[in-house]
Amino acid sequence: MDKIRIVGGQSLNGTIPISGAKNAALPLMIASLLSEEKLILENVPRLADVALLQRILGNHGVDITVNGKRNGDSPSAGQTMEIDARAIVDTTAPYDLVSRMRASFWVVGPLLARMGQARVSLPGGCAIGTRPVDFHLDALRALGAEIDIDAGYVVARAPRGLTGARIVFPKVSVGATHTALMAAALAKGDTVIENAAREPEIVDLADCLLKMGARISGAGTSTIHITGVPRLRGARHSVLPDRIETGTYAMATAMTGGDVTLAGARADLLESALDVLRAAGAQIDVNNEGIRVRRNGAGLFPVEVSTAPYPGFPTDLQAQLMALMTRAQGRSRITETIFENRFMHVQELARLGATIHLEGDCAVVEGNDHLKGAPVMATDLRASVSLVIAGLAAEGETMVQRVYHLDRGFERLEEKLSNCGAQIERISG
Ligand code: EPU
Repeated sequence: MDKIRIVGGQSLNGTIPISGAKNAALPLMIASLLSEEKLILENVPRLADVALLQRILGNHGVDITVNGKRNGDSPSAGQTMEIDARAIVDTTAPYDLVSRMRASFWVVGPLLARMGQARVSLPGGCAIGTRPVDFHLDALRALGAEIDIDAGYVVARAPRGLTGARIVFPKVSVGATHTALMAAALAKGDTVIENAAREPEIVDLADCLLKMGARISGAGTSTIHITGVPRLRGARHSVLPDRIETGTYAMATAMTGGDVTLAGARADLLESALDVLRAAGAQIDVNNEGIRVRRNGAGLFPVEVSTAPYPGFPTDLQAQLMALMTRAQGRSRITETIFENRFMHVQELARLGATIHLEGDCAVVEGNDHLKGAPVMATDLRASVSLVIAGLAAEGETMVQRVYHLDRGFERLEEKLSNCGAQIERISG
């Protein structure tokens, strides 16, 4: 298994190109199942999760071609993917694939809406919480589907098609909003989704569905209206920039000090995180190229932050913020409200010398300036990258194990950081 070796203490200076968003690319690829015509996605990041979803879609009979680089393309340009779901040969998504990536469960909505049936494995456990799928299933039932659970599989049927309905989510869910949106796009009549997630990735999916001929209004607000259409056509769509990758490198720069431009980043996608970084002492400027993050000399201030659905502070940046706050001058409080078990990085950060104690869903971080490198590992993607950030500021060598977590969601991480002066390398093993 590969490892990442970091020797801490260098400031970051230069430009980091921001990739297309993993959490937008995945539902967009899944949306291809809704149409017999080709969906062309641009700016798709090269990530292990994207490759796995290619396999899962291939299993349903979807043909995917990835275009090679053209002369003059920048090395950081994302891939262009032509996805052709004309012939769906199998409506089953098997356990061995779905259990490896939860988002692949989301094929259930489009398969059911277009084919009238789907048999999709329940995703199973997860490192950051129990993560049930009840909201997805309730939404599909509201649209008229019959749902049974059989031998670990969700068996969903709608032989006469789905019918528009009012769907009220008890709690904000990104995935269940994606499911409802995709299923309702092909249902007969009108659907209203209330307490919908407002994440930019929902808006990106809705924008793509609009290009495919769907009738949707209100995406980005908590009430989405959809009028179903009998069929969707092909389209071309570019994946929006990754706000979590952006926030991660912004925090890395605040952590080490330096001056980094996050090229192609969009500040409007992560205002709450940028506000927290400003409060912590980073200087943030938005320019034509993207977002410029600076911290020169001055120390870091502690913050009090709670994660919340968009536009609140994202749970996917909670671990990275915690790493940053281990260096602040004073006590920070970071409360996790989305997932009940997303503190697996606390013990690993402690191995690097951080002082953090947990009070229920709140982590209390006593900042100090004495991180020291150590071997560490993490059980999920965002926790792993928080250890990289801590390692960049720690004295001496940090070895991050289980790099496959990082490869799920960060494209060319070690290259992007070493181009800005970090001493970081991958050790194959
Ligand atoms: N929930 C339920 N029932 C459901 C669905 C969700 O109780 O049927 C609960 C969850 O257990 C959680 C809360 O609702 O407590 C919110 O979960 P949500 O459904 O919004 O999460 P998700 O759609 O499974 C996406 C991202 C996650 C991100 C969350 C929250 C993708 C592929 N995944 O997950 O990203 O943390 O939204 O913003 O978009 C990551 O990229 O590392 C990652 C974990």
